[in-house]
Amino acid sequence: AFNLRHRNFLKELDFTPQEFKFLIDLAADLKAAKYAGIEQKRLKGKNIALIFEKTSTRTRCAFEVAAHDQGANVTYLDPTGSQIGHKESMKDTARVLGRMYDGIEYRGSKQEYVEELGKYAGVPVWNGLTDEWHPTQMLADMLTMKEHSDKPLHHVSFAYLGDARNNMGNSLMITAAMLGMDVRMVAPKSLWNDDAIIAKAKEIAAKTGAMITHTEDVKQGVKGVDYLYTDVWVSMGEPKEVWDERIALLKPYQINMDVVKATENPKVKFMHCLPAFHNRHTQVGEDIYEKTGMEALEVTDEVFEADFSIVFDEAENRLHTIKAIMVATLGD
Ligand code: CP
Ligand code: NVA
Repeated sequence: AFNLRHRNFLKELDFTPQEFKFLIDLAADLKAAKYAGIEQKRLKGKNIALIFEKTSTRTRCAFEVAAHDQGANVTYLDPTGSQIGHKESMKDTARVLGRMYDGIEYRGSKQEYVEELGKYAGVPVWNGLTDEWHPTQMLADMLTMKEHSDKPLHHVSFAYLGDARNNMGNSLMITAAMLGMDVRMVAPKSLWNDDAIIAKAKEIAAKTGAMITHTEDVKQGVKGVDYLYTDVWVSMGEPKEVWDERIALLKPYQINMDVVKATENPKVKFMHCLPAFHNRHTQVGEDIYEKTGMEALEVTDEVFEADFSIVFDEAENRLHTIKAIMVATLGD
């Protein structure tokens, strides 16, 4: 087994591929134990700070429930309810919280903020999403693919359609590279990952046997894949002004039944980290409908609600995988 105690999880590359796979396996064990009613509490008496400078449903709830299941206490700091960043530096915040807490989750904008926290806190720090990476999501996504595949992850292929420059685009590409997968980033060229991150992924792929493809051709990109993956076209923290441009750029990359058919795989599954702008059931969705007449953006309701959509299995797995990272880095 692997000893990951006291380690940070600020980005996927903080762990080796073997350590990453160990965390996925640990999550599967913790999930099975919870289902069987035989979960052991390994975080008894631990205090955990949850800092959210951006909003969250899944990540926050997963940390809270996982901590509770394992016997730990949490403090939730909402996007406005602390001095962090406004009145106090990250370095000072880290040194204060490190005196009180055994572990700290942080969701915010710049990656350098969570890196600074991890550098000075003296206790494990977990990245709950930054503009650049969403590593806890990757553990959940890989566990979900593992559960829904009849082959090992290094034989699995998936296509990500949408904004490949965002946190999900980066994290999915790097994780696929680490685990030796076949990943196709299907997006207009202007939304492909940053060159430096692509270079890093290809460097890793050379060692793991992963295949990293970038293409603007949807049909070619999705052909034969096991999973179709997408994310919102505009991420948290981006200005409202980018909506028009993003919709124009990404309209051809919507996941609809034509794209599902183009995979030519009758067993293809649909994934999305959520939240999804897939319909008009939100204020933002309503506003976009008013302006564009589009009922759906990155995914149609038909695909989202289909029996091959595994988005809620994926959401549930946030709990088991976040529990795994806390137990591994902090557990007795
Ligand atoms: N997928 C995800 O991170 O969801 P939340 O923003 O609700 O935490
Ligand atoms: N790219 C999205 C992911 C949300 C989980 C965002 O950053 O808003």
